[in-house]
Amino acid sequence: MAVIGVVQPAPVERIIVALDSTSPEQLFPLVDALMNSGVQWFKVGLATWISGGPGFVDRLRAKGARVFLDLKLHDIPHQVRLATQSASNLGVELLTIHACGGAEMVAAARDGASAGMRVIAVTVLTSLDATVTDVICAGEKAVASGADGLVCSPREVKAVRQSLGGDVLLVTPGIRPSWSTRDDQKRIASPRDAIHWGSDLLVIGRPITQAQDPITAVQRILDELAA
Ligand code: C5P
Repeated sequence: MAVIGVVQPAPVERIIVALDSTSPEQLFPLVDALMNSGVQWFKVGLATWISGGPGFVDRLRAKGARVFLDLKLHDIPHQVRLATQSASNLGVELLTIHACGGAEMVAAARDGASAGMRVIAVTVLTSLDATVTDVICAGEKAVASGADGLVCSPREVKAVRQSLGGDVLLVTPGIRPSWSTRDDQKRIASPRDAIHWGSDLLVIGRPITQAQDPITAVQRILDELAA
């Protein structure tokens, strides 16, 4: 496991709640309630970024939240270097790029990022079908070019961990507790299996944010992880 910080994180510190919304300002009561339950990490994806922008990230940071900016950057190296610099200036701690952007782009992303920000390469989207070999191949190239970690599905995390070792930060979306719906995710697994197989951080969106009671949903996930 790649450790975030000095001590091994508690289960609640491994949950990243994906905030996907066209009206992100409305999410702040939910963010407050989740933070009161111990959640530290929030993911700002494309929809939320386009609607809420840097101001939304600033407000999250002012609350003490840790921010994962999931913009999946894929552009020419110069543009990506500037973008990662800007994300670092916002106090973002995790930022995604696409592994398929190539070695030079991945290196430029790392070059633009501050020491406090980890650049995470998306191997293959969890809404697509992919083989483990596809994911490992994309992951190895990205890490060799400077990526600090990878996004992969929990189904591949064990093989990726075996292939790339313990230092690479592995972040897994496609997390579905047994009681939640699959939605558009294809390569899914339970939170417990994902951690067991070697995931460091679990990205969980709709099973929490669309739950009738999001706080109870988080508690059920934590109970499952503790069992
Ligand atoms: O709601 P759900 O739990 O499916 O949310 C998953 C989140 O993870 C979404 O914000 C999605 O954009 C993101 N993600 C993903 N697959 C990847 C990378 C990121 O689902 N490979």
